[in-house]
Amino acid sequence: MALPARVRIYEVGPRDGLQNEAAAISTGDKLEYIRRLAASGLREIEATSFVSPRAIPQLADADELLPRLLGSTQDGVRYPVLVPNMRGMARAESAGAHALAVFTAASDAFTQRNIGMTIAESLTAFQPVLERAGELGWWTRAYVSTAFGCPFTGRVGVERVVDVSLRLAELGADEICLGDTIGVGVPGQVHELTAALLAAGLPLERLAYHFHDTRGTALANVVAGLEDGVACFDSSTGGTGGCPYAPGAAGNLATEDLVYLLDGLGIEHGVSLAGVLDAARFIAGALGRPLASKVGQAGGWDAATGARTYAAEA
Ligand code: COA
Ligand code: ZN
Repeated sequence: MALPARVRIYEVGPRDGLQNEAAAISTGDKLEYIRRLAASGLREIEATSFVSPRAIPQLADADELLPRLLGSTQDGVRYPVLVPNMRGMARAESAGAHALAVFTAASDAFTQRNIGMTIAESLTAFQPVLERAGELGWWTRAYVSTAFGCPFTGRVGVERVVDVSLRLAELGADEICLGDTIGVGVPGQVHELTAALLAAGLPLERLAYHFHDTRGTALANVVAGLEDGVACFDSSTGGTGGCPYAPGAAGNLATEDLVYLLDGLGIEHGVSLAGVLDAARFIAGALGRPLASKVGQAGGWDAATGARTYAAEA
């Protein structure tokens, strides 16, 4: 099976990674983390969320963070922000955003807890947001969380995921990102889901996968996605994160683990492992805990010499 020659790594560390952390992280530390992520070659970095500060206190500094970030960089990086409604859209606009992500799920029980809306209500809320983003020429993405399973109702049917994805595509989202929010999926399900989405008419270029490594299946699922021809994968540098409204959702796929896999497969992505590990160590230090990723702990490996590379103690 021919794998894509090049993939996009979509970094979610500053948003998904930090939204569920117990430790308070200063705006300055977040900006330094993002600066290091961009320096590693990442070109899509989800920066923050314009959601209710009561819902996600960790990202309550979004109105300050985004202008400071955009004021300090002119580096051609896309910095999408999460926007749940028109209130969030107004905030994102005044902060100078240029790309956004809306987020719903394939399970009503989950959207109710996460954003206080049914799936249908969320689509109604997103319609004006995506319309406005279209007028402004912003790049847009739509997340379908719990695409492999819901922490409240169990297995989610593929037809449900396809239905929500098509609706979001009709509303104009440039990219549809399927999330395994609680890390329960396995490769066979990835193949099944990709096939169903393509059969329903969604083009491969508009699909992305967001895997959590909660049960150790994230990289296996990435390989399944690659075999299907999908060429955009989400990850969080340092392996931090998870949704506070999804019990047991710990562990985004770590960017350093994804980069190591893609390097080994000879797939281009433009990101330096050393740079990602530098950002990973910075954020682990700010959070005051060890890195959650495999490659963060072991370092990389030089196939020519057999030596460990970029190991923490090296
Ligand atoms: N930005 C800031 N404040 C907002 C807001 C936004 N985008 N949208 C709503 N609010 C405020 C309202 O003004 C209101 O404030 P008040 O309590 O001080 O009066 C409060 O939030 C509740 O608003 P309401 O319209 O009743 O919505 P809700 O309580 O049902 O919350 C969401 C809906 C979507 C705003 C909220 O659930 C949310 O922000 N969820 C985000 C969850 C998330 O980010 N999860 C992780 C991503 S997977
Ligand atoms: Zn995630």
